[in-house]
Amino acid sequence: MATVPGLGIVGGGVWASHHMNAVRDLEAEGRAKLVAMCARTQETVDKMTSEWKIDGTRNYDELIAREDIHAISVVTPDHLHRDMAIKAMRAGKHVICEKPMDLTVEGCDEMNRVARETGRLLFVDFHKRYDQVQQKTREFILQGKIGTVQYGNCYMEDTIVVPRDWFPKWAEATTPFWFIGVHQIDMLRWSLGQEVVRVNSAKGWKGKLSGLGLNTYDSVHAELEFSGGAVFSVDISWILPETFPAVVNQGARFVGSEGVLELDTQDRGFSGCFSGGGMKTFNVNSAHVQPLALGGSLHSGYFVDPIKDFMRLVTWLEDGGDIKQLEGKYPSGQDGRAATAAALAVHQCLETGKPVDVMQ
Ligand SMILES: NC(=O)c1ccc[n+]([C@@H]2O[C@H](COP(=O)([O-])OP(=O)(O)OC[C@H]3O[C@@H](n4cnc5c(N)ncnc54)[C@H](O)[C@@H]3O)[C@@H](O)[C@H]2O)c1
Repeated sequence: MATVPGLGIVGGGVWASHHMNAVRDLEAEGRAKLVAMCARTQETVDKMTSEWKIDGTRNYDELIAREDIHAISVVTPDHLHRDMAIKAMRAGKHVICEKPMDLTVEGCDEMNRVARETGRLLFVDFHKRYDQVQQKTREFILQGKIGTVQYGNCYMEDTIVVPRDWFPKWAEATTPFWFIGVHQIDMLRWSLGQEVVRVNSAKGWKGKLSGLGLNTYDSVHAELEFSGGAVFSVDISWILPETFPAVVNQGARFVGSEGVLELDTQDRGFSGCFSGGGMKTFNVNSAHVQPLALGGSLHSGYFVDPIKDFMRLVTWLEDGGDIKQLEGKYPSGQDGRAATAAALAVHQCLETGKPVDVMQ
């Protein structure tokens, strides 16, 4: 019989619920178990344990010591992933780490070293790889359908609600480029099959968020050069008005010698307007709840699919699978490191105003 892996989650905020939903679905099928969670405050622990009917603790060492836990989801603020992921792997647990993997290349290197030493799976939640539109884009590009990719652009913009209302306590410890820019970097690397080699230019704005007491960038624009010569401008921001039709605005264009691909990944053709509110768009590809005829429901979409995929890999590994066979097949710690190195170069370019080569 296949192993039924147990999951422990550290972090009980906005994003943790996607990890919980994914594993609860697998649990209903007898393929995984949501065991316990850990958060900083007792209030969060009490709320999550009563909502999800699982064990909870404020003591992370206690969570990772449990023998009924095979894997840990690290869903804490961006700057806290490194130590938690390392501790979990040293305790013998596989790890799915939220993006960005770490805010330093040295931190990513250490995490990858520990993953190698312990033979644990280190999976970074770059969920754009699970979006059908992005998958088709990559397939077309790698099949050569648009020829040699020469240039393009992509954008990802959150409404101001995200830094102001979701996590005001730690918004200053990160930037919009760390928070969402890394998604686009991973998407570009993965779609093109190329590395970011240089940040040619970058411009950042501050003012709107600092006026609210959050000292971080409002927006960052950067031009990235890839190993095959393509250049992409990447536009990232955290200040769209809260009346924007969705929390996230996003899209991309790829232009090659033989064709062009244009992706509007925000407005997928489904919108509505209700009394008391403005126009809204609904991206059902990100998170969808399907009621099941036999009772219960199934969560799908690129918010939850990578977490389910991770748990399937954990089962496979626990049942004797060879981790080397997974190389290149999932968003790994090496991918996390590459995105961090590029994002770091963007921030260095913002500070110096000079082009920056990306640490390979
Ligand atoms: N994949 C995505 O698209 C996506 C989207 C949103 C957030 N995220 C990532 O998920 C992570 C969490 O984001 P969020 O929006 O849920 O943040 P949040 O502020 O809502 O939640 C953070 C949680 O971490 C807990 N925490 C903080 N310090 C801790 C500590 N020392 N020990 C234990 N728990 C601690 C807090 O109690 C809180 O429950 C971030 O890295 C973020 O970038 C990813």
